[in-house]
Amino acid sequence: MKIDKRITEVIYTHEQIVEKCQELGKWIDNEYKNTKDLIIVGLLKGSIPFLAELIKHVSVDHIMDFMTVSSFDGKMNSSGNIKIIMDLKTDIFNREVLLVEEIIDSGTTLSKVINHLKERAPKSLKVLTLLNKDFNRKFPLKIAKYGFLAPNHFYAGFGLDVKEKLRNLPYIGIFDKSKFNDL
Ligand code: IMP
Ligand code: MG
Repeated sequence: MKIDKRITEVIYTHEQIVEKCQELGKWIDNEYKNTKDLIIVGLLKGSIPFLAELIKHVSVDHIMDFMTVSSFDGKMNSSGNIKIIMDLKTDIFNREVLLVEEIIDSGTTLSKVINHLKERAPKSLKVLTLLNKDFNRKFPLKIAKYGFLAPNHFYAGFGLDVKEKLRNLPYIGIFDKSKFNDL
């Protein structure tokens, strides 16, 4: 496969990601085998490629929903709220929610999303992420399941963006920061 010029090294190949999605799909099947009320929530836009691959390997019935949030600047909003750009269409009250992310880094945004969704009283709320940069965590976050423990790099591909671009790469690689201004 031809590798994008702005990627210095591929860390997770497409094949490795698909294999991981098979494993994660089995985890979902087992975790939610006794429920009819699973809602898989993707945070836009980064989760799209991961979610699209993941659900091919999920057999338990579920519905999908999406949400777009943005963080307020910390200095502007001391209460640490998030701004909901697009909310869920589904009422999650008393239902089992699985939040899906492509990467969790400091956990800043996600911890706020979780607090916000908990107010709607779902029966359960769990987090699944493809990449986990756990050494960078600034907010305590319980992750139910992750795909890969990612070493400290800046990645692009499979949903991970640089200036909103490169989400389309079918693999995940290290972004060459010297190419930042070319994008
Ligand atoms: P957090 O709030 O610090 O956990 O940041 C999570 C968000 O930062 C992700 O949804 C990504 O948009 C972005 N992010 C963190 N690490 C990377 C990376 O290595 N490449 C691209 N985006 C990243
Ligand atoms: Mg993102």
